[in-house]
Amino acid sequence: MPTLLVIESSPRRDLSMSRGLTAMFVAQWLENNPDGHVVERDLMESNLPFVTMPWLGAYFAPPEQHTPEMKDILRLSDELVEELLEADHIVIGTPVYNYNVPAVLKAYIDHIVRKGKTLGFAGEGLVHGKACTILMASGGSYTQGSPIKDRDIATSYLKLILKVIGIEDVTVVAGGNAKSVDMGQTTRTAFLETFAPQVAAAASVD
Ligand SMILES: Cc1cc2nc3c(=O)[nH]c(=O)nc-3n(C[C@H](O)[C@H](O)[C@H](O)COP(=O)(O)O)c2cc1C
Repeated sequence: MPTLLVIESSPRRDLSMSRGLTAMFVAQWLENNPDGHVVERDLMESNLPFVTMPWLGAYFAPPEQHTPEMKDILRLSDELVEELLEADHIVIGTPVYNYNVPAVLKAYIDHIVRKGKTLGFAGEGLVHGKACTILMASGGSYTQGSPIKDRDIATSYLKLILKVIGIEDVTVVAGGNAKSVDMGQTTRTAFLETFAPQVAAAASVD
């Protein structure tokens, strides 16, 4: 039974374009994998703390020396890592904020890049055999030929960090020009529909 991990990071709920794309993806993936299991990790509901001194103390201490307080402080990070390692396909729905991913997604990444769990002590990625789909919504468009393509930090960053932990089978659906919906030039439904073929193709990878 394949497992799909769905990571959501937009605060805009029903208005969100990235959440619209993930909903399309999940529906298609379940059609392709009727016995599949979907795990949703909504980062807007996960209360992820930023890295602190006590967190770092626990992070750098060898597990056999962990105190109950250290175990406690790493519990959520451990849970997120387990969730990631149990998934066969990971889908990340994300807005672009100031040319990068939103802070909550960066906080998630700080929790799942863990020495000895997802990253080897020699710097090698330990997460293998997984596909990842990034469903990105941005006000502007950064695809080939765009005069602002060089500002597409969010895509490069996500691809890089996924590669660092070992995930190289990555598909990106760039939901650019989402501002056309906010400006009333098109509807949310019509906007999302333009990405349906790309989303369906990405949901067929396994
Ligand atoms: C704080 C903030 C920063 C943004 N920065 C960018 C940006 O740098 N580039 C861009 O193309 N769009 C930017 N946008 C527009 C969003 O990417 C766009 O509204 C997108 O649809 C958000 O994803 P969502 O609909 O899933 O929430 C920004 C929006 C907000 C609220």
